Amino acid sequence: ATMTAVALALSAGAAIASPGCDEGEIVIKFSHVTNADKHPKGIAANLFAERVNTEMDGKACMEVYPNSTLYNDDQVLEAMLQGDVQFAAPSLSKFEAFTKQFQIFDLPFMFKDINAVDAFQNSEVGQKMKNSMVRRGLQGLEFWHNGMKQMSANRPLLMPEDMKGLKFRVQPSDVIIAYIEQLGASAQPMAFSEVYGALQTGVVDGQENTWSNIYGQKFYEVQDGITETNHGVLDYLVVASVDWLESLDPEIREQLLTILHEVTVERNAAVNEVDQQARQAILDAGGVIRELTPEQRQAWVDAMKPVWAKFADGIGQENIDAAQSFNS
Ligand code: LMR
Repeated sequence: ATMTAVALALSAGAAIASPGCDEGEIVIKFSHVTNADKHPKGIAANLFAERVNTEMDGKACMEVYPNSTLYNDDQVLEAMLQGDVQFAAPSLSKFEAFTKQFQIFDLPFMFKDINAVDAFQNSEVGQKMKNSMVRRGLQGLEFWHNGMKQMSANRPLLMPEDMKGLKFRVQPSDVIIAYIEQLGASAQPMAFSEVYGALQTGVVDGQENTWSNIYGQKFYEVQDGITETNHGVLDYLVVASVDWLESLDPEIREQLLTILHEVTVERNAAVNEVDQQARQAILDAGGVIRELTPEQRQAWVDAMKPVWAKFADGIGQENIDAAQSFNS
């Protein structure tokens, strides 16, 4: 049955990191939406699969489906609850339907850099968040980093007023929608795989994303330029279904989760490098990157930060304070 799935996926053009599974091995599918080899998530997922397929040979077999070839983020969590896929790592913004807790990561200018994000995720408050969807059937396992988000559009964005009237692609998050609308733009939630085409054809004018996503999806080709705002974070939560995890033999589960943890520590430590390589690759490919003066940046902070008030009660002021403590 597995070989059929692999053959079907291959004929549909999906890239698969495993050579196919043997009889008797537990088949583990990892579905994600980014590219496989120059992206923090793609690299980490491949390393996870490589190690599982070597160290758990005969017991388990992992297949990675990148580039939304199996599911996009709107579908993957439902598919997981149905038992059709075992691992995914959607961005934190995609969990809103399951818990409001992750909204803290979408508040603009909440974290000064990925090191502050890392410290918060590893704090007691952050670690507890991994269990916030258990009642809904999902177990958070590890946070994976991508990086800080930048803004791009089909015209230069130097001051917050430059956003007025733009149709702007966003992830489906109430917080992101609120700050984009606060800037006078119209927020358009859309699946990641559709963004390039939408920018190219003018269905939307702009978008916000990390260097590795802007590079990996070639958004710079169809935008006037990218403004280095670092206004928010885009990180991931590796999740599996509670039912599936409980169905595993304890020793197998332990070995799998230990490998996942080691991969997490290794790849999160390397994320700044991957991020900077993507930024440089955009420049090398002729993309335009605009840096802000301190005064310009302050104008974006002043324009966007007021949305905190709208979400603070739901998120909890004590959690916001805990997150802020890692910025100093
Ligand atoms: C997006 O939808 O822009 C991102 O969450 C995609 C990703 O997984 O990095």
